[in-house]
Amino acid sequence: MAETPKNIGGVALVGSGSAIPSQKVTNDELGMRVDTNDLWIKSRTGIGARRVIGPNETLSDLSHLAGEAALQMAGWSPESVDLILLATSTPDDLFGSAPKVQAKLGACNAVAFDLTAACSGFLFALVTAAQFLRGGSMRRALVIGADQLSRWVDWDDRRTCVLFGDGAGAVAIEATSTEEDALIDFKLKSDGARGDCLNLPQLGEFLPLITGTTHQRGGFSPVQMNGQEVYKFAVREVPAILGELLSANKIDPEKLNWLLLHQANQRILDAVAQRFSIPQDKVLSNLADYGNTSAATIPLMLDEAVKDGRVQSGHLIATSGFGAGLSWGAALLRWRGPI
Ligand code: ACO
Repeated sequence: MAETPKNIGGVALVGSGSAIPSQKVTNDELGMRVDTNDLWIKSRTGIGARRVIGPNETLSDLSHLAGEAALQMAGWSPESVDLILLATSTPDDLFGSAPKVQAKLGACNAVAFDLTAACSGFLFALVTAAQFLRGGSMRRALVIGADQLSRWVDWDDRRTCVLFGDGAGAVAIEATSTEEDALIDFKLKSDGARGDCLNLPQLGEFLPLITGTTHQRGGFSPVQMNGQEVYKFAVREVPAILGELLSANKIDPEKLNWLLLHQANQRILDAVAQRFSIPQDKVLSNLADYGNTSAATIPLMLDEAVKDGRVQSGHLIATSGFGAGLSWGAALLRWRGPI
């Protein structure tokens, strides 16, 4: 096992992994279910297809596979992991799915819990895990972002169902010296007062319990979204928070190797890139293949770009997650990879 650096205070990003369901649904295929078409979806969102979990897979399975791949890249044994954070809004079990993933991984020494912050979930979990490592109480963490929104969209509502897909991504992070810190800076924000434009609310159904009393029946309504409000929120807040981070750290956008945004809509990616004059070839996007996989988009995209050699050791990445809550955040990261 590697030696713990003396002046702990930083974290290194040392491994990534991802997993996607086997079922693929193209825009044309979706057009057989609802009144939509490939041209509308592609031109409005950049999405070409999405993956949907079928009867032989679960979100915990995908999370396990993504986590296992990240462990392999990092060269870690499952037993050496101290913490597993599963960012998800769609767990297999409302009591939490992270312990199930921990058991599947054989990470018997890790504490594991879920963290919910919708599409910002991975970034919020990454920052949370980093605080445990920076504080010196833990050395190795696995941060997984995974969602199965196919469970919770109304597949007859063309305004929402075309946007989402299922998937999982993971990053292995380890405590390191302050000088080597890969989480250069971050900022996280929430505004519940504006949360009504994107919800996955309770059914609100009450049934008789005993005479004179009722109880609420569990269950959720499908995703409800005011697309235009969410769009305006994203193109206003993401450039603002990224701009704050870049100027606070005196980093010229030209110095960035990659812009890695939550994959919600290609038009949002383009608008943010344009605001900082970042050329298209530095903007990571896999919307065409997977759509919006919520908490999974950032690690899924990162893993793809690491595996195909675009993201290399030492590269500087500006990332931002945003979504329901409302919640949003940004971070400046440096990818290290395994040594
Ligand atoms: N196919 C064909 N037509 C459609 C579809 C569809 N799938 N969906 C809507 N339309 C129609 C509408 O009915 C409307 O028709 P009308 O003018 O006859 O009434 C027309 O297209 C325009 O609808 P708008 O809602 O105005 O379309 P808009 O250009 O705003 O695009 C979209 C909608 C793509 C949802 C956009 O608002 C958007 O991307 N918003 C951000 C959404 C988002 O990213 N959400 C997730 C982020 S947070 C998270 O990740 C959880």
